[in-house]
Formats: sequence, C-alpha cells, structure tokens
Amino acid sequence: MPTSPPTPTSSSSDTDDDLQHVLRVDAFSDATWDALRHAAVQHRHDDTLHAGAASGSSLGLIFMNPSLRTRTSMEGAAAHLGAHHTTLVPGNGSWDLEWTEGAVMDGGPAEHVRDAIGVLSRYHDALGVRVFASGTDYAADEQDTLIRTIAEHATVPVINLESAGAHPCQGLSDAALLTERFGEDLADKTFVLSWAPHPKPLPMAVPNTALRTAARCGMDVTVARPDTHALAPKVMAEAEALAKGQGGSVSATSDQAAAAENADVVYAKSWGGPLMYENPEAESEARAARSDWRITADLMAHSREGLFMHCLPVRRNVVVDDAVLDGPRAAHLDQAEYRLHAQKALLEYVWSL
Ligand code: CP
Repeated sequence: MPTSPPTPTSSSSDTDDDLQHVLRVDAFSDATWDALRHAAVQHRHDDTLHAGAASGSSLGLIFMNPSLRTRTSMEGAAAHLGAHHTTLVPGNGSWDLEWTEGAVMDGGPAEHVRDAIGVLSRYHDALGVRVFASGTDYAADEQDTLIRTIAEHATVPVINLESAGAHPCQGLSDAALLTERFGEDLADKTFVLSWAPHPKPLPMAVPNTALRTAARCGMDVTVARPDTHALAPKVMAEAEALAKGQGGSVSATSDQAAAAENADVVYAKSWGGPLMYENPEAESEARAARSDWRITADLMAHSREGLFMHCLPVRRNVVVDDAVLDGPRAAHLDQAEYRLHAQKALLEYVWSL
C-alpha cells in the first residue's frame, strides 16, 4: 500500500478541467481510485496519519438536506487534517437559495445559488455540498443538475456529499471497507445489491453508487429487485461497462433468495426508481406489496457467510431485521466509521497534500 497521500491523476470535472470536483465514483482514474481506497484503509489503522497536514486550509460544507454521518465525518476529517470548516444549512441559519437562472427574485429565497457559491469559493479551498433529488423532475435528477450547477458556479473543488444520482463519499468508504475485509483483489467476490421495503420512495444516489462501486471494484454484481423497481437502463449499462473493464460482471434478477445464494455481500437499499416519476401511485402500490423483501436472518443464512451492508440511516424491522443488524455479519457500523477515514483521504486528494 502507498505510504503517501493520493495525488490527483485525472480530473473528475466535466465543467472545468482545472478543478478536481468529486461528483461520482466512476470519474476517478484507476490509479486515483486505488490510491484513495488504500489511503482510507491506512487512515483507519493509524489515527495520527497526516494529522494537521492541511493546517491553513478551509472547507465549506453546505447541507440542503439532513445528515448524521456525512456532516459529522466531514467535519471530523477536516479537523483531523487541521483544516478550518464552516457548515451552512440554507433556510436554517443561512439564506434560502434561488436556483432558477434569470429569476425575478421577489419570492422566498433571498440569495441566488450563483452568488452563494461564488462567495463561498472566495472563503474556502473546497466545498462539500449535499443536495438531494427533486423526486419529481426525472430529467433533472437523472442528469444530477443541481450538484452540476454548484460545480459550474464554484471556483474551488466541489465534493458531492450526496446528490440526486450519486454519493461518492459513501462509495469510496464502502470500497475501502471491502478492500480491508476481502483484500486487494475483489474480482472473485459476489456482491448483491438488494432492493428493500420502505415507507417512502427513496432516491437513487445510494443504489446507483453501490452498483458503480462494486462494478468499479471488479466484483460480480447482482441487482435483486422487483420488476417494478428496476434501476435505470442507462445506469445498468454504465455499470456493466465499468465491471467488464475490471474483470467483473453485472446482472439483474427479481429472485431475491436466488441472488442471496452464495453472496459474499448483501447490500440492502430501498429506492423508488424511474416508476416513482412516471406513475407515483403505481410505485407506491408496488412498494407496499413487497414487504417480504425485508432482509431477514433466514435470507442471510443463504449467503456465503456474507457481509450485510447498509449506508444508514436504516428503518429496523422494515428494511432489515434486528437479528441481522445486531448479528455477526453486520458491517453497517464499520461502513459508517469508514466515512471518516475515506474523507480524510479524499480531502488530501482534493488539496493534493
Ligand atoms: N449514509 C449517509 O450519507 O448518512 P447521512 O445521511 O446521515 O449523512
């Protein structure tokens, strides 16, 4: 494993080649991806590693949506590296933002996102932004328009802290955990991304990212989901290409039990999928009829002593049974811990320390 922090080897920006925006896990070069996950593992095993190395740097965090893990771990990672951070919550102690270009701003929002991001770029050396899906505008959510708008207006690197379609910090953390548990070569491991029940139609950032992450690691990935909740064909096709390039594969099934057979990892997540935009009533009915997709100890017993993974927060005994979460295969707390270590590595990368 490398002993020095990862340095940028390619830009993940599609808006400015000179900026190292971090918007999706699949935008990293292979070398950067490997360096980042190894650096995250190193941070986990040495909590003094590179302490204070970013003294004098400043990180601006903007949370348009709630967070427990992402906010705490980003603030902790910045503090470990010696960087200053400021956390803003628009509408709650900071101005509500207007997003529409050319808007006549005579309504609620007092500040345009263009000005807010322009100003914060003058104060900070990087910005971390959480801005979730609209849940109603499929085209905008599929294109990840809001986080891309932030990146367009920023003059410092933007780290996506979960957008409509991606959660790269979660993906990198999960990849580091998988590397630690299974070793460098993940190509012979079977990763099942299983849809799970939920009272609400959830957005696509985490399932898209879990799929891209496992594909990027070269694993054999099966997406188990009801036919009503297939992932977007474009996302599946991108993941297939990504996996193929790493010696892995991607497939889909509506047979959850068969998918769990011999799985090394069962990664549970609920999502609404394209149907929630096309026909919300049909999606709601289909979701309500699939409470039997809950992850149980019996389902996990079919796996190959598999890890249970979930990004959290999780609704106990709706998504997954207590017996799984409190059992020996559960890795969700390690996943959450890895957020801290992976984001230290990510900040070092962004700042080229
Ligand atoms: N997994 C995750 O991003 O958690 P939070 O929503 O609490 O930040």
